[in-house]
Amino acid sequence: MSRRLKLLCGLLTAIGVAGVLYLARPITSQGDSETEPKEVPAEILYKPTAVPDRIILTWKGDVATTQAVTWRTDTTVKTPVAEIAEAEAGPWFVTKAKKFEGTTTPLETDLGPSLYHSVDFTGLTPNTLYVYRVGDGVNWSSWTHFRTASPDAEPFSFIYFGDAQNALKAHWARVIREAYSDAPDAKFMLHAGDLVNVPIRDAEWGEWNQAGGWVNGMIPSIAIPGNHEYAKEDIYGNKYPIGRRRLAPHWRPSFAFPDNGPPGQEEAVYWLDFQGLRIVCLNTNDKIAEQAAWMDEVLTDNPNKWTIVTQHAPIYSASRRRDNPQIRNAWQPVFDKHRVDLVLQGHDHSYGRTGLMGFEQENTSTGINVRNPKAGTVYVVSVSGPKMYDRNEFPFVRRAEDTQLYQVISIDGDELRYDARTATGELYDAFTIKKRDGQVNELIERVPDTPQRMRPASREG
Ligand SMILES: [Fe+2]
Repeated sequence: MSRRLKLLCGLLTAIGVAGVLYLARPITSQGDSETEPKEVPAEILYKPTAVPDRIILTWKGDVATTQAVTWRTDTTVKTPVAEIAEAEAGPWFVTKAKKFEGTTTPLETDLGPSLYHSVDFTGLTPNTLYVYRVGDGVNWSSWTHFRTASPDAEPFSFIYFGDAQNALKAHWARVIREAYSDAPDAKFMLHAGDLVNVPIRDAEWGEWNQAGGWVNGMIPSIAIPGNHEYAKEDIYGNKYPIGRRRLAPHWRPSFAFPDNGPPGQEEAVYWLDFQGLRIVCLNTNDKIAEQAAWMDEVLTDNPNKWTIVTQHAPIYSASRRRDNPQIRNAWQPVFDKHRVDLVLQGHDHSYGRTGLMGFEQENTSTGINVRNPKAGTVYVVSVSGPKMYDRNEFPFVRRAEDTQLYQVISIDGDELRYDARTATGELYDAFTIKKRDGQVNELIERVPDTPQRMRPASREG
């Protein structure tokens, strides 16, 4: 090789090494601001357009003949509309689609103005696959399926989530997606409060909606407000007086729930019936005594075989330094009286599941605590998001720390099956409840033979 060629080869090698070293250099915060990645602002990420997003199916009324849907757009949309037809294998269902005009609620958020639209499809045929879309006549969502419920007590499953609340995009999305993959035929998804952390931040609602994505448009949601759906201040930073937190402005426009709760608690407290199950949705933030009286009435006139209550703050807490005696004293006697089968809760950021429980009262003559012998309710606290608290000493049948979970609950005639699964889909807790005529329910434990997931002692505190 000539000297000149050697020099050229040496120069090229040096340039190559320098390039590799440059590419492999450690990333420091003092680097070139032109080339460093920049966070995309929330105003851009969650900006509404005329194209519908945040599409959520719910029910306002009868689950067999109606279906409600809500969606969001920017403020240019003046003609919100939804179309619906019975689903067919080919595309020509579009020629048979019926139009429903939407109603609109403007919502001013910390990221700017938006519109929330709502349609309640009525006059539907039970147990029928429909296809619908929402839009403004020009900008449309995808045509999307849902199936109406049966008016009878047919077997079905649903998914229950404890608090999602934090890092919804990073850490909660995988849980709702795993749950859907595990139970794609679930008839609804039940969220037991604290869907978000700071409810006046539009970006958090954006993350919650993106985590569920198109599943929220196919499978109806049932949700109750937790303490984190109550705002401490308005979007301009004006604080509310202590004890006067307000239900987040996003709540009512985002969801179309039944208006059958006590006055002033519309869409926060309500009930609905699904194929032999009455679901009573309570609000642990407000008016506890009024809800006890309302629930007593709702459960007195209940033709369903099964009754499930959902509430945010639990009757039996699962984490340290948390107890809700006011709620327990007001509501548990009503659960006992009406033999509520199962109570699905959140708030404590750990997992705890009881056996059959009844309200315990001190016998005034003996001073001994006695449990209501006619009661037999199973209480669950669960968590689906990443925020984790320390367990307490309550004698739960099964409990967990540092574990994100979802639950699939199936009802078939006289049997209710409950499976709690971890974020990775492994069975973590399970039981079956059997109805027995005129007696307390039978509880059959099916807890898997795996260790309880407990926080290492070094991380407690
Ligand atoms: Fe909470």
